[in-house]
Amino acid sequence: MDVVATAALASAVSDAGGLGLIGGGYGDEAWLRKELSSVPPQTVGCGFITWSADPKLVEIALEHRPSVLFLSFGDAAPYIEPAHERGVPVVCQVHNLEQVRASVDLGADVICVQGGEAGGHGIGGRSTLTLVPETADLLADRAPGTLLLAAGGIADGRALAAVLALGADGALVGTRFWATTEAQAPATAKSIAVTLSGDQTRRTSVYDIVRDKAWPKRYTGRVFDNDFVHKWHGHEDELRANIAAAKQSFQDALADEDYHHANVIVGEAIGLVRSVRSAAEVVSDMANQAERIMRSQTHCPSSATERSNRT
Ligand SMILES: Cc1cc2nc3c(=O)[nH]c(=O)nc-3n(C[C@H](O)[C@H](O)[C@H](O)COP(=O)(O)O)c2cc1C
Repeated sequence: MDVVATAALASAVSDAGGLGLIGGGYGDEAWLRKELSSVPPQTVGCGFITWSADPKLVEIALEHRPSVLFLSFGDAAPYIEPAHERGVPVVCQVHNLEQVRASVDLGADVICVQGGEAGGHGIGGRSTLTLVPETADLLADRAPGTLLLAAGGIADGRALAAVLALGADGALVGTRFWATTEAQAPATAKSIAVTLSGDQTRRTSVYDIVRDKAWPKRYTGRVFDNDFVHKWHGHEDELRANIAAAKQSFQDALADEDYHHANVIVGEAIGLVRSVRSAAEVVSDMANQAERIMRSQTHCPSSATERSNRT
């Protein structure tokens, strides 16, 4: 999760029994070295946005021997051999079966399939509910030793149990960890986000345009569907024509912590997040709830009482 996922968040997740990832996507060399230096080797993973990754930064991350190299959004080929030479397993996050097949052929150790519910960037054409079992079947047939992670919409133990039942070996969780005390996101943004429903998110490119992020066209990012998005989504050419003023108003909003205009990167699962908690609480609640559900083999809770207890 770009520079939100610092060493502090990643190590809190790993300490709690998950596997935390440092988000190297938008970080520069100084930022990456600082974050890596505060965690022992092989305790957390490190992620990159593949189409924009600086090979030198990936090399710096690999020298630190992360638990995994996590690659999303583009051609992972140049990085798989260097990672394997250092004994670092590679996770490829992908969005459809064609990309699953290509990642298996490249030698990915773990495939992470992301549904369009997810917060942040993706292709958005598939939902987690169908993509996970289809991928599980494909891997069983073609690469049974390759692990499968599900991403997109997993914010509590019900969803974790669901994706395990669908054939995943684990889950990649973004939005729920964005709303933790350790995440490097402004407290004001987190406090607004925990009041949102999943209806109040949208996939769009308007923040990439205003932030000068040259994402390839097929990628959009899911964000809080705020006033800025209402104004510009569907009017991207107009936004480009008015880019100087739009940039100024975006920068002002960031400085003022005005999240009706500045971006809040969250997925549909934000509607299940009602409080900012520690990463350790999130990991243990999610795992315990999933275990309870799977042990009892009952359907997820639906009574009003259980609903009020679930967060
Ligand atoms: C704030 C935020 C930033 C993200 N940044 C990145 C990123 O830099 N690189 C990446 O591979 N995925 C990024 N993602 C997407 C995650 O890898 C993951 O697919 C997604 O969070 C899973 O869905 P969920 O948000 O419903 O848990 C980001 C997600 C969020 C919420």
